[in-house]
Amino acid sequence: MEGTRLQKFLASCGVASRRASEIIIAEGRVKINGKIITDPAVKVVRSDTVTVDGKKVTPESSKVYIMLNKPAGVLSSAKDDRDRTCVVDLVKGVDARLFPVGRLDYDTSGLILLTNDGDFMQKLTHPSYEIWRTYQAVVKGVPTQNKLDEIERGIELEDGMTLPAHIDVIGYKGKNAIVEIVLREGRNRQVRRMLEAIGHPVIDLKRVQIAALELGELKPGAWRYLRGKDFEALFGTETAKKMRLI
Ligand code: URA
Repeated sequence: MEGTRLQKFLASCGVASRRASEIIIAEGRVKINGKIITDPAVKVVRSDTVTVDGKKVTPESSKVYIMLNKPAGVLSSAKDDRDRTCVVDLVKGVDARLFPVGRLDYDTSGLILLTNDGDFMQKLTHPSYEIWRTYQAVVKGVPTQNKLDEIERGIELEDGMTLPAHIDVIGYKGKNAIVEIVLREGRNRQVRRMLEAIGHPVIDLKRVQIAALELGELKPGAWRYLRGKDFEALFGTETAKKMRLI
């Protein structure tokens, strides 16, 4: 049968990634021509009307990719029911339904990507792609090499062992150290929990790099569109070509 799988169709509409769309479908929030559909494999054809939570969705005609320097005190979501500022509120004048790729805590600043392309989001957030992320943290006190080695090897958190990571002291702020930590997993508040676990809680946290894409000189609250070399920095040249990003 012709048509596009419902799950893929929702991702192409910018509703969410394919994986997250599957959950939205399972929750019974999606209707095709007025009928609730809970099977993500059902095919959507051109003449179908698809709604999510009662709102009609249509495929995005052009894909948008943006990098933003998220200031602390801004939510990493598309909207907030308590009316707090969200990352998408900082991107003015772009006519697309953007959503953030992954999350930074409310108090964390730095590099976050925004897109309306569910597949792009999926590639960056699915653990199997092992995208490395680099953070700089001001921590309380100065960790010894033994403590840093614990993080390098992997440490026990309440949700299990962390994967091996890289960490170095890169500077000092008064009596406190500035560390750079590079991780290939993204559990909730992971950097904060790892540093707390070695006895050096985070005072300030900023993400400075995703794969080889650096935040660079972008000021807090500022954003720019991604360009060809940025996609290569994220995925490597071959994969970026396969994804038709360059
Ligand atoms: N780890 C954290 O603890 N917080 C973030 O915002 C990102 C990674």
